[in-house]
Order: sequence, then structure tokens, then C-alpha cells
Amino acid sequence: MRIGVLSGGGDAPGINAVIRAVVRRGIQTYGDEIIGIKEGWRGLLEGKLVLLDFEAVAGILPRGGSILGTSRTNPFKREKGPEQIMENARKAGLDAVIAIGGDDTLSVAHKMADYGLKCVGVPKTIDNDLVETDYTFGFHTAVAIATEALDKLHSTAEAHSRVIILEVMGRYTGHIALATGIAGGADVILIPEKPFDIDEVCEYIRRRQKRGRNFSLIVVAEGAKPKGGKEIVYSERVDEFGHISLGGIGYYLAKEIEQRTGIETRVVVLGHLQRGGSPTAFDRILATRFGVSAVDLAHEGKFGYMVALKGNQIVPVPLKDVVGKRKTVDIELYELASVFFG
Ligand code: F6P
Repeated sequence: MRIGVLSGGGDAPGINAVIRAVVRRGIQTYGDEIIGIKEGWRGLLEGKLVLLDFEAVAGILPRGGSILGTSRTNPFKREKGPEQIMENARKAGLDAVIAIGGDDTLSVAHKMADYGLKCVGVPKTIDNDLVETDYTFGFHTAVAIATEALDKLHSTAEAHSRVIILEVMGRYTGHIALATGIAGGADVILIPEKPFDIDEVCEYIRRRQKRGRNFSLIVVAEGAKPKGGKEIVYSERVDEFGHISLGGIGYYLAKEIEQRTGIETRVVVLGHLQRGGSPTAFDRILATRFGVSAVDLAHEGKFGYMVALKGNQIVPVPLKDVVGKRKTVDIELYELASVFFG
């Protein structure tokens, strides 16, 4: 087979591990030719392709980013975009495309089936918000980075008797914030799924003060919002999938907390540090398993499916059951975390 592989959307540690696994499995087991499609769907629109052999993927397993690059290009927003994709796929002789991505990239893969493109999806996003898989790759690494940051902030917050707010990614869901907050012992965790009451947040901080704990650590997801309020937007610019850039909730919170409690409050926005660098061992293994299984699915003719982790098994799930949905945090886990608030 001639199999194309692309990575779309925000990068996530482990993309290169998937690409390597696709190449190794495809060539070694099936004698495939693997074609790298550069910069997500844009590469197929513009015909930016590269042959991937063993040499091309040597040494990339621990590397962050994507050797193919990525973009948030949406072919359905371009004049005759899907037709152009099909034309270029035909020219390149592609029998199948493995699309590594989150909801946006996988939605395109799903819709392209109507035009005749045969796709297999691989679930990628640090946000871990795709349904039908226990985990996406990249999430574990993001949480490890954010937890390390929180551990470091603990000592300086304590030394200065300050409140420190760690703002993490998570546009619509609080998986990173919740996991980081539990792992790093946050005193309050704020997530998009549960609009917060600022007085309640201040009450937790005061409760700690009464116990002689003059510092507090708050983890907030960028998409968290006050009850009855809206998310804080960083830029009005909307991407081709209709997403706005969020950011700034940490600063909003800091001002409110300082005003209400009189305690000096500082903010750290972790930003893209969460997406950079080497994947954890967990993500390398998951990404490798996903890549190998994606090639196997293509050979089984199981197009329109995504590889998924369920329990300890990698299983195929139909893309139609995945796209356009969002896995929110387990509210029971949030309640468990709240035992440690204040
Ligand atoms: O990939 C999803 C995500 O990590 C979101 O949590 C975040 O809002 C977004 O990416 C930011 O992406 P960028 O700044 O690269 O557009």
C-alpha cells in the first residue's frame, strides 16, 4: 500500500513517535511506501509530500513537535478544497491516509470519506478531550510538565506568603488542570466544566490562612469562567475551525483575589511549554501502539475508524462516534480533588 501520514492541529508530544511507528510497521511488516504529508491537511491541499523511509524517522522517537509540521488548515473552508485533496491524493497514488489529530483534524478525515478518501485516525491532543478513548497521547506529558511547574511554584509561594495561580491549557475541558492539581496538591482547581464563584475561591484561601498556611496554589484551565460570566479571550482571531484564542483568566483571578483578600497574588501562564519537548515514556508507548495499530487497520480495510485506548487494549472505534463530541472531566474525580481544597 501507499499510505500518507499527516499531523494536524496543535502539536502534542508523541507525534513523531506515531510517525516512526507508522513507517516502521508499514515498511517492515507490509512492504508499504509511506508518504509524509507536510503541515496537516494543508500539505494535501498544496501537494507538499515527502517519502518517509527508515532513515527519515531514525532518532525521532523522543523528539517533541512533528517532523512533518502541523497546521489548523480546514480544507472545507477553501474553494474546492476537498476536490483538491482528492486530486492530490490520486496524483500521489495514496491508498490510505493516517490522520493524527484532535477533533478538528479527525472531523476532516471523517468528512473526506464522502469524497472517497480512505482515512484512519490517531487521537492526539494534550487536552485529552476526545471521546471513545481513555487517553489521547500528549496529555500525560503536558500533565507531567505542569505538575513539575506546580511543585516549583509551591516553594516560592510559601517563601513569600503569596497566592500563585498556574494557568494551564484546556479550552473547553479541565483534564490538564484537574490532573495537575491533584498530582501537585493544588489548593483550588478551576475548570471550564464548573463555573466558579470567586467568593468561594477566596474563602478557601482564608481557610488556609486560619490554619497558618499563608500561601495558596491555584490551578486554572484557560477556559474556566466565573458563574454567569464568559471565558477570557486572548485574541479575537478565529482559526479555520472557528476557535478563538483563550488566555488571561489567571490575571483576572489574581486581581479579584488581591482585592478581596489583600494577599499578594502572582500568575504563571504555562502556555506552549506544556506542548513542547520530549514525550514521557507513557506517551511514547501509547503513540507507538497507536501508530502500529493504525497501519494494521489500513491493511484490514477498516477505514473511517480511529485507534483508541480502552483499558489496556488498542481498539478501533468509528470516527462518526468520535467527531463533534467532547469528553469532559469526570465530575466524581473533581469532587475527590475538592476534598483537598482550602
Ligand atoms: O491543542 C489544543 C490546545 O492545546 C488548547 O488547549 C489551546 O487552547 C490551544 O491548543 C492553543 O493553541 P495555539 O496557541 O497553538 O493555537
